[in-house]
Amino acid sequence: MIVCKKEASEQNFNYQIEQFSYADFSVVKAFFGSIHDNLKEKSHFIIADLEEVLPSLLYGDKGLLFGALHEDEIIAIQGMDFLPPEDVAALPNDLRALEIGWTAVTAEFRNIGLAKKLSHIIEHEAYRKTNNPSIVATVYPENIIGLSLYFSLGYIGYKFMEHLERPRIFLYKNSQKPFIANNSILKYVSYDDYKMQKKLFDSGYLCVSIDVKNRTLQFVKGNLFN
Ligand SMILES: CC(C)(COP(=O)(O)OP(=O)(O)OC[C@H]1O[C@@H](n2cnc3c(N)ncnc32)[C@H](O)[C@@H]1OP(=O)(O)O)[C@@H](O)C(=O)NCCC(=O)NCCS
Repeated sequence: MIVCKKEASEQNFNYQIEQFSYADFSVVKAFFGSIHDNLKEKSHFIIADLEEVLPSLLYGDKGLLFGALHEDEIIAIQGMDFLPPEDVAALPNDLRALEIGWTAVTAEFRNIGLAKKLSHIIEHEAYRKTNNPSIVATVYPENIIGLSLYFSLGYIGYKFMEHLERPRIFLYKNSQKPFIANNSILKYVSYDDYKMQKKLFDSGYLCVSIDVKNRTLQFVKGNLFN
């Protein structure tokens, strides 16, 4: 493992951030297995294609995988795929994007900023390596914490589609150019009203945030790809 950074968090414990390489394949795989085993809603985080995708993320020229370690144990991971499959990277205007994902934090260390910190680091490193600021993320719409994470990072939902046989909200971010939403036309939709979400995306709305307490997605009119 290559140690990239050492940090002490506000929560008064030490952790270090590292970039994983192919030598870490088994520990990384075991980490994702254990996250998945411990999830109440397993459909929120699918690991069926892990063995297929993991090698790309562990070779530095095809992707990145960063993790946080505490007392030599992995407590969080974030990944970036430089060459995601066509159906994910296919964006309007022939844009090609990187794909951020494989985001997971051990339950005891959630909600203290680890996923957000790893995401900022990986976005920065991915841009340095590829010079491509376009990033997509796909999230199962019922994973409201996952959606909330990506909205908090400035990602904007632009499409609803079945992907790997599951409903997904597709989100996009230009890491070099934050999107400024025009909040004049707002629509509120329940997180599980897929029909209305699809209808709004198809008529030019973007999904910009989620109210976690009320499980409501917020849409505004706008063009993300201008
Ligand atoms: C989703 C997950 C990775 C978030 O990791 P995390 O380290 O707890 O997230 P962070 O503490 O960095 O929080 C980042 C943002 O997520 C949202 N968030 C995180 N936990 C939240 C909670 N319990 N309630 C509401 N929002 C929450 C907030 O918007 C937060 O930003 P803010 O602090 O600026 O408001 C973690 O819950 C997890 O591992 N879940 C299981 C696997 C999974 O679902 N992965 C995501 C697939 S898309």
